[in-house]
Amino acid sequence: MIIAKTKYELNEALGQISLSPGKLALVPTMGNLHQGHLSLVKLAKLNSSKTITTIFVNPLQFGKNDDFDNYPRTIEQDIKKLNDENCDILFLPKSRNEMFPDETEIQLIKSGSLGKELCGKLRPDHFDGVLTVVHRMFNIIKPDIAVFGAKDYQQQILIRNMSKSYFPNLNILTAPIVRSNNGLALSSRNNYLSNEELDLASNLFKCLKKSVDLYQLGESIEVIIKTAKEFLISINLVPDYYEIRDELLSPIFNSDQVGKKVILGSLKIGNTRIIDNIEFNS
Ligand code: PAF
Repeated sequence: MIIAKTKYELNEALGQISLSPGKLALVPTMGNLHQGHLSLVKLAKLNSSKTITTIFVNPLQFGKNDDFDNYPRTIEQDIKKLNDENCDILFLPKSRNEMFPDETEIQLIKSGSLGKELCGKLRPDHFDGVLTVVHRMFNIIKPDIAVFGAKDYQQQILIRNMSKSYFPNLNILTAPIVRSNNGLALSSRNNYLSNEELDLASNLFKCLKKSVDLYQLGESIEVIIKTAKEFLISINLVPDYYEIRDELLSPIFNSDQVGKKVILGSLKIGNTRIIDNIEFNS
């Protein structure tokens, strides 16, 4: 695997790759790679001839009270994992400057009203920061395909919307959520939790599954949400949000609406935010 730490090295690596015809797939990450990330790399490889992964802890998407400084950085292990997956290039910008050389010229991408809902309500400007860095990655790497995880459902919808406007030929793929044995969605933030807390956190997925069952039984949205919140609160998990939306994240009001839907939930265990979702058809 070629490791590029500067834009110059990246361009050299991309130049070498462009000699071999085929599609280039990009997997943007913030590192601390786990099986969830590696499933994105696997999907990228299945759909392309060359794969580039980026590791950049993007300061623009962290708020004042977020964990930018303490975000887990495990570069050596990450490189080993990407090598084992036969990733072709790792872009590992050595400084913020490599991504955003002239701060005054950063093209800020706004996530609009959807970026202010759900997770965006809890993390103001977070999605603007995500879209800005992803837009920049797309511009400098020019991939044919980019892969994101379904765990960050709202993020991948916002990236799809941004990409439609700015990169209409780019094919965005979404990889399914990878879960541990107890059902908990894999996330770098799970590292902050004790074994007991990991077990507790797995109740969010149990709750999502139960909500789908209730929906399929024809229960009203109001009752489904109330039942879920009561269950979570009864085990000391206080949801920040718990909502049923259509697949593009428009609100839905009646449980007789047919089509693809998603239930999304977020809660905090100590200072650690856990998010999860479940997609279903009705
Ligand atoms: O999902 C993430 O890890 C980040 O939000 C992303 C897409 C790499 C942008 O920094």
